[in-house]
Amino acid sequence: MAAIPSTMNAVQIARTGGVEVLEHKAVPVPVPGPGQVLVRNRFAGVNFIDTYFRSGLYPSPHFPLTLGREAAGEVVAAHASVTRLGPGTRVVYMSGPAAGTYAQYAAVDAAAVVAVPDGISDRQAAAVLLQGLTAWTFIREAGNVQPGQWTLVHAAAGGVGLLLVQMLRSVGAKVIGTAGSKEKCGLARTNGAEWTIDSRNDDIVARVKEITGGHGVDVIFDGVGKATFDADLQMIAMKGHLISFGNASGAVPPISILLLGQKNVKLMRPVVNGYVAEREDLEKYTSELFELVASGKINVAIHDVYPLRDAARAHSDIESRKTTGKLLINCD
Ligand SMILES: NC(=O)c1ccc[n+]([C@@H]2O[C@H](COP(=O)([O-])OP(=O)(O)OC[C@H]3O[C@@H](n4cnc5c(N)ncnc54)[C@H](OP(=O)(O)O)[C@@H]3O)[C@@H](O)[C@H]2O)c1
Repeated sequence: MAAIPSTMNAVQIARTGGVEVLEHKAVPVPVPGPGQVLVRNRFAGVNFIDTYFRSGLYPSPHFPLTLGREAAGEVVAAHASVTRLGPGTRVVYMSGPAAGTYAQYAAVDAAAVVAVPDGISDRQAAAVLLQGLTAWTFIREAGNVQPGQWTLVHAAAGGVGLLLVQMLRSVGAKVIGTAGSKEKCGLARTNGAEWTIDSRNDDIVARVKEITGGHGVDVIFDGVGKATFDADLQMIAMKGHLISFGNASGAVPPISILLLGQKNVKLMRPVVNGYVAEREDLEKYTSELFELVASGKINVAIHDVYPLRDAARAHSDIESRKTTGKLLINCD
């Protein structure tokens, strides 16, 4: 195993703002503390949440801040207190905001790290962990989706969206996808959305009424946020679950709780980390996720792999609504 250098390349922000605040810098390689391992990152996932920390929508725990919340790579060192993950183990992990992954190395709590099975590549692992756990735990726990239910996924050709439509189809739900172009709708259909709606050109509420024969949607998965929330309340079925989980178009403004009484709506605003906070749950859901990938039930679509120094381009691209599937950063 190669010697561990004293410095590494990382992408950090010293203040919030547009993509121009991303800086590619040489910084010290972190030293693993009690309970931590040092991972040589191969690929880091780009997630929409990274843009929220960059823009200031979500507050940074400190500056400078290394961006990125997930990566796959190899354990290269461990604190003496860690016995489970030896050097050379291929791993994937989600980190908290304090340990960014747009970097060649990261010191991560061993409790958050999962070994990658043979048959799953580093790329696939980095591309599927955060968005895949989000989609899978939201289907299983937040929505408790049952076969035959009407479901709707906004931004169905995006990172989380493409995984949601495939997984919903695999559990037997009826899947409607919305997406911002004809091409994206086509991709969502190929991946399991039986019905699609072009969100830039069609009347989503009217189309849903038509598609569901007036029933409405039993479980809505909405990562778009501000732009779609009002329509969600109109097209949700009686006793439906509205899972609002993102802010791609901006944060949903505060609402009157009385609105939910009109259809006995269950409104949730879940965060993936809450479903995998216990080690047992992390292992269970990650192993189910890897099984979905290994068995070919879900395909992990990678939009592009960006060099570390081009992280700003990755942010511009994901914010431009032009990407589909997952964006990765090559940390080498
Ligand atoms: N709560 C959680 O734990 C959790 C975990 C993971 C992700 N998320 C959230 O899930 C959402 C999707 O994340 P992702 O990483 O998979 O991103 P993504 O879906 O690949 O990209 C965002 C998509 O949102 C749609 N969109 C609609 N209006 C937009 C606007 N004004 N600006 C930009 N995009 C807009 C676009 O698709 P169309 O053009 O097709 O509309 C765009 O491609 C994000 O809101 C993210 O924060 C939440």
